[in-house]
Amino acid sequence: MSERILIGVAWPYANGPLHLGHIAGCYLPADIFARYHRTKGNQVLMVSGSDQHGTPITVTAERQGRTPEDVVAEYHQSFLDSWAGLGISFDLFTRTGTENHARVVHEIFLRLLDQGDIFKDSMPLLFCPRDQRFLPDRYVEGTCPFCGFTRARGDQCDNCGRPLNALELVEPRCVFCGTAPEIRESEHFFLRLSAFNERLKQWVRGQTHWRPNVYNFTLRYLEEGLRDRAITRDIEWGVPIPLPGYERKRIYVWFEAVIGYLSASKEWAERRGQPDAWEPFWKDPATRSYYFIGKDNIVFHTVVWPAELMGYGGLNLPYDVPANEFLTLEGQQLSTSRNWAVWVPDYLAKYDPDPLRYLMSINMPETADTDFSWRELVRRNNEELVSWYGNLVHRVLTFTYRNFEGRVPTPGPLDPADHALEERAKETLGRVGDALERTSFREAIRAAMELARDANRYLDEKAPWKTLREDRERTATTLYMALAIINCLKKVLYPFLPFSSERLQGFLGLEGSVQAEGWTWTALESGQPLQQPQPLFTKLDESIIEEETARLGHPPI
Ligand code: MF3
Ligand code: ZN
Repeated sequence: MSERILIGVAWPYANGPLHLGHIAGCYLPADIFARYHRTKGNQVLMVSGSDQHGTPITVTAERQGRTPEDVVAEYHQSFLDSWAGLGISFDLFTRTGTENHARVVHEIFLRLLDQGDIFKDSMPLLFCPRDQRFLPDRYVEGTCPFCGFTRARGDQCDNCGRPLNALELVEPRCVFCGTAPEIRESEHFFLRLSAFNERLKQWVRGQTHWRPNVYNFTLRYLEEGLRDRAITRDIEWGVPIPLPGYERKRIYVWFEAVIGYLSASKEWAERRGQPDAWEPFWKDPATRSYYFIGKDNIVFHTVVWPAELMGYGGLNLPYDVPANEFLTLEGQQLSTSRNWAVWVPDYLAKYDPDPLRYLMSINMPETADTDFSWRELVRRNNEELVSWYGNLVHRVLTFTYRNFEGRVPTPGPLDPADHALEERAKETLGRVGDALERTSFREAIRAAMELARDANRYLDEKAPWKTLREDRERTATTLYMALAIINCLKKVLYPFLPFSSERLQGFLGLEGSVQAEGWTWTALESGQPLQQPQPLFTKLDESIIEEETARLGHPPI
């Protein structure tokens, strides 16, 4: 039976291009998951968009002497280009600056206000006497009261992951001028998180299928006790407060960005001319919703967003929040300010997407941080994609093309080795699918690549290039089986390596998309014409290792 799967992916701040940390953290796993479920015949809705509000954007704009609108427009376009180049297959990638988003945010805000889940209060805030302005969120830095990290920001500590109230910072300073701020009162709206503490705890305790890091981190956080949090700011960039008298304040970026999952689903439905099509994805309790995020976003997706949903009522809570750990780069923490990063647009200008998708899948930071290195990219590409998978495909296709009139041969009777390999392939579909359902991406791609290894072994044993002269029927059977396995590899690797699978689809002479075939074993028709084969992957030259690592850590030219 066809299932319905909603996939929400973290909304990237539109204040800089994407780097590999973003991709490994959430966009690639979400895309693999979406492609698998679509192939399986499930109904998938995968949404996200540019997070264009809050101090991350205004700080960048101020530093660059540009307007926030200008910064956001540039990087929104850059994101769209990166998705196209990497094959990240969103059903909709929108932005938080749309009218639709503001409307949905206002609806939720007003209902919670009406119910008393949002209330008004005056609060002491940090104010820079020199710049004459309040210092919300990233406008202030200081020492984290929980872990002692000295560059914690006013909204969150990047070291221990705890959300912070700027007043809790030890030795705070204004990020623009370094001045020690004073405290001033300001009127704001608060989300009554304390009222949801018990319900959230009960709910999370039932989510035993969550990854242990997500489950434990969330429960510990809830057990410390939730405090009510301000959800408006003294800033003039963001979603307006839908009440008169608050023109100089805006809704806090985190309160509204998570609502983007819902507003984007509504926009998607509107755009396809079926304005109600979002409803089954949010209201049918059988729909499962997955939120792919990096580990620094856990609390917002397992506590804040569920609290907003509980307060609003009638919509599904997250089914799973498969947060990834971090990707390090050449053994060091990624740092955008130090340019210790590989930027997606730079990568795509020079290299193919699939080798990167391959390395990041097989080495995904699912349960622990993992490292990206150029040496490993070259090695995995040359030894595994080219030698293991690509050569298998190329050997079989060119040999068949040349010796069997460019068509899929007609097999004779199958021997035990043929049967065994076919069984292995069918089993692999099940194993890969099962691992993907559990969001175990490393396990899944490893199982898929094992089939490539078995197929190589089979081909070496059967040696069709030797049997061609004396036993044409046996040779035809071997090649038929090898082609059938390649056809299966194309499928089990499709969620990870969509570009090469689609090309292989063409070489096999098949029309229609890989996705449309379904996640099942499909036989090849004898006599079907093949296309003149081309290599699936190309070797990367060892020299790029030095060339690329030498670029790291220098300011861009
Ligand atoms: N913009 C945030 C970040 O880059 C992520 C927001 S996820 C959302 O860390 F769901 F809240 F939008
Ligand atoms: Zn900390």
